[in-house]
Amino acid sequence: MKIIEGHIAIERPAGVESWDVDPYADDYLLNPAESYRLLRGKGDFAYIPQYGVLATGHHRVISAILARPDVFVSSRGAGITDYGVQENWRKPSIILEVDPPYHTRTRSAMMHTLAAAAVNGLRPMFAVEADRLVDLALAAGSIEAVTELAEPYSLGVFPRAVGLKSVDPGKIIDYGIFTFNASGPDNERTRAWRRRGADAAAWIAEACKRGSLSPDGMGEALYRQADAGEITDEEAAMLVRAFLTAGMVATIASVGIALWSLSANPEQFAAVKHDPSLARAAFDEAIRLNAPVHHFYRTCITDTVINDVVVPENAKILLSYGAANLDPAKFEDPERYNIHRKAQGVLTFGSGLHSCIGQMLARAEGEAIVSAMARKVTAIELAGEPVWRANNLMRMLASLPISIR
Ligand code: HEM
Repeated sequence: MKIIEGHIAIERPAGVESWDVDPYADDYLLNPAESYRLLRGKGDFAYIPQYGVLATGHHRVISAILARPDVFVSSRGAGITDYGVQENWRKPSIILEVDPPYHTRTRSAMMHTLAAAAVNGLRPMFAVEADRLVDLALAAGSIEAVTELAEPYSLGVFPRAVGLKSVDPGKIIDYGIFTFNASGPDNERTRAWRRRGADAAAWIAEACKRGSLSPDGMGEALYRQADAGEITDEEAAMLVRAFLTAGMVATIASVGIALWSLSANPEQFAAVKHDPSLARAAFDEAIRLNAPVHHFYRTCITDTVINDVVVPENAKILLSYGAANLDPAKFEDPERYNIHRKAQGVLTFGSGLHSCIGQMLARAEGEAIVSAMARKVTAIELAGEPVWRANNLMRMLASLPISIR
């Protein structure tokens, strides 16, 4: 048995093409549309010898796998490591990386705190902060939209929603970036962030304690469920951590992507200006076209046939949500930013049992910023080359110079 990156490397299954690629290389991650096209071109699955894993970017194949969480499990890790083979650097997530029946309990506790009413209650706060930051950007005329808009906005609203009494922006961002890098192989990128991730982890652990949370946030709401015996105190702390890990960097990335899409597509910006009720659609479409999460894994626990391919026991399968969102078999003219598209089955937030629990919140945040831009800004333009940051899991901008008036 050959172990690579903490999982059992499988042999190439019959009928599957081998693809000599590193899906964690800069050129793969930084040119996703091209990488995704190549991945889909290999057939239903590609076998990646460097890691001994399968990968798929076809919408129907990913959907078939996500529909079988009994055999394609999450409990052996949502990244490249198989927790049945190697321990993770931290305790695995008790929602993302567990299976039913345990998953049912933790997901339901989190669902309670995120009930639609709570999200609607947060909308006014999102709108006030979005309007304030867009006014500041307008006064400045040109800004670096990642550090001057996407980050302050998400850091201004999300920790407040969770109820953090104090926020160290650098630590929250470092923790997210490291955690997402660490879901991939132990490559240069993961190693470069390890020290910062470890420093940030100590801060995050403190921030998740009940004493660090205000009484009106979602974090305290989780602890109240512990009081009611639904979960334990330790589980409440871990679910607060899940909020902070999953929620922060992904929303920063998605707001950056939305601003970039609007700057690069003036006619689409004009359309949302003309009808600001399209703000939600403009945000959703931006993160369909450039999914902030490239991929997650499932692990196959018993030989299972998917479209004539026998996926062997222990296979790690990279599910490229980003590629599925650009699958021409599912979406018409998929590489075009079209805010009038009524896309169904987009996989930006996954699907099925583990679909993103925070998506209503993330979309409410995104809608507020696009709506503020649509109502207040006459024109938004790129004022320099955007710089993308390669990450083992996330598609995100490092810098986005824009001018607005
Ligand atoms: C635009 C921003 C976001 C994106 C693109 C995103 C993406 C995703 C994706 C693709 C999954 C599926 C994982 C899988 O298939 O294994 C997921 C799950 C999850 N997300 Fe998000 N997410 C975002 C924002 C958030 C926010 C704001 C929160 C917290 C409030 C959150 C919390 C979670 C949790 C807890 C899970 C695990 C759910 C489960 O396993 O049952 N996410 N997210």
